[in-house]
Amino acid sequence: MTHETNLILPSLLASDWSKVAAEVKRAEDAGAQWLHLDVMDGTFVDNISFGPQMVQTVRKCTGMYLDVHLMIHRADHYLERFIKAGANNITIHVEANYDSSVAETLKRIRAAGLHAGIALHPSTPFEAALPFVNDIDLLLVMTVVPGFGGQPFMEKETMPKLAAARDYRDQHGLKFHLEVDGGIYTNTAPIAKQHGANLFVCGTSSFGPPDMGQSMRELAAAVA
Ligand code: DX5
Ligand code: ZN
Repeated sequence: MTHETNLILPSLLASDWSKVAAEVKRAEDAGAQWLHLDVMDGTFVDNISFGPQMVQTVRKCTGMYLDVHLMIHRADHYLERFIKAGANNITIHVEANYDSSVAETLKRIRAAGLHAGIALHPSTPFEAALPFVNDIDLLLVMTVVPGFGGQPFMEKETMPKLAAARDYRDQHGLKFHLEVDGGIYTNTAPIAKQHGANLFVCGTSSFGPPDMGQSMRELAAAVA
């Protein structure tokens, strides 16, 4: 799949965790090809979600591509566990602390045969990603402050950065995906698309409505 393919990624964070297996199946039946999993450590972000064991549980339920978003410090310390759990892509934050470094962690993700991404907090400029642009499959431009679902899309703070990333990528013949995450609905997804996004993480807007097939179709139509 190239960076010219638009995809809606349901975020498990917004699903009903009392029946995770059924929710994963609901996403799959609704047409999702990639599923987004938000790992939070209570330190890098002000919330705690789940860890490798949940990734492994989801892996048992589905063949979907698992896009794991690590909002944690020391991702390098925990890396093997997420790889073993069955992640397909692992995205790490440039702002987090590492025992080694962002570059070393990206290298290890790819050496394990996975795709690698880096994520930028809304207040982090695109320039912070520049040292890594040749070593990533995906750049995640956070469109809310990471930590919680259901927050409003930060258009002014993040869209110029997304466009700058798109322009830089295209001018340099690079191929990484541009992903947006947070506050993505049928009204905000087209704005993100205009600024370069092709992967749209949707929590509340995908899992929220009772008919997920319909919400996924509407979101896909909004970025078609
Ligand atoms: C926020 C997470 C998001 C979250 C998005 O820190 O990274 O993936 O699930 O949720 P919505 O789509 O509800 O804003
Ligand atoms: Zn996320």
